[in-house]
Amino acid sequence: MAEERTPIISGNWKMHKNHFEAIQAVQKLHYRLGEEEQEGVVVTVHPPFTDLRSVQTLIESDRMHIVLGAQNCFYENEGAFTGEVSPAMLAKLDVAYVILGHSERRQDFGETDEMVNRKVKAVLAHQMIPILCCGETLEEREAGQAESKVDTQIRAGLAGLKASQVAGLVIAYEPIWAIGTGRTATSEDAQAMCAHIRSIIADAASADAAAAVRIQYGGSVKPGNIAELMRMPDIDGALVGGASLEPDEFAAIVQFRQH
Ligand code: 13P
Repeated sequence: MAEERTPIISGNWKMHKNHFEAIQAVQKLHYRLGEEEQEGVVVTVHPPFTDLRSVQTLIESDRMHIVLGAQNCFYENEGAFTGEVSPAMLAKLDVAYVILGHSERRQDFGETDEMVNRKVKAVLAHQMIPILCCGETLEEREAGQAESKVDTQIRAGLAGLKASQVAGLVIAYEPIWAIGTGRTATSEDAQAMCAHIRSIIADAASADAAAAVRIQYGGSVKPGNIAELMRMPDIDGALVGGASLEPDEFAAIVQFRQH
């Protein structure tokens, strides 16, 4: 059924590039991708918050087919929350996709499943699409706990959502041991977990939601391994870190059908 889901390839820049560098990178990416839409592939970029306004202006003025995303947001709309950015603020910048519950947020900034769930709901309430991240550590995988860890993260992250809301989400499966390590999951292992995620969604939401939800793989995705990953029936896209910082490399990933 993968044909029915629009592939989505997202660049998570993490804490890289100031707003000048961001403009250059997006211009170069646009040039590399060309004017045309990418054969039905949705391309999103997720710069740091300080770059969003500059990138938004560029995308709109040049009518690029690149979609703006953010890397995180808070779940309240406004208030005494020093240092936080609200979903309403992101929506005002025409942000369309928000990465939530990335393993770096969970590990380094103490985000819990409950916080991630509140963020998912807040982002949906502002008509943006969450990219809900999940994934196991190496220890958990070696202990045979990868599936149960992902199960817990997905069920908690989606708690209280309607099946119709779940259908529109993007889930990113990012095994933590594959992030920034150059060590990609085999396409078979990635496929197995993405199929497992779809079965969890069928159980937690509905069969229709499971068939519609888009699932990305993330973790050392490169031009050389994207095509094989995208051939897997339950993998609908990729969440790319390091390789998304270099426009040539990211464009080659987006154009995976050409290699
Ligand atoms: P790398 O592609 O650098 O492994 O990062 C993956 C990631 O964490 C994307 O969110």
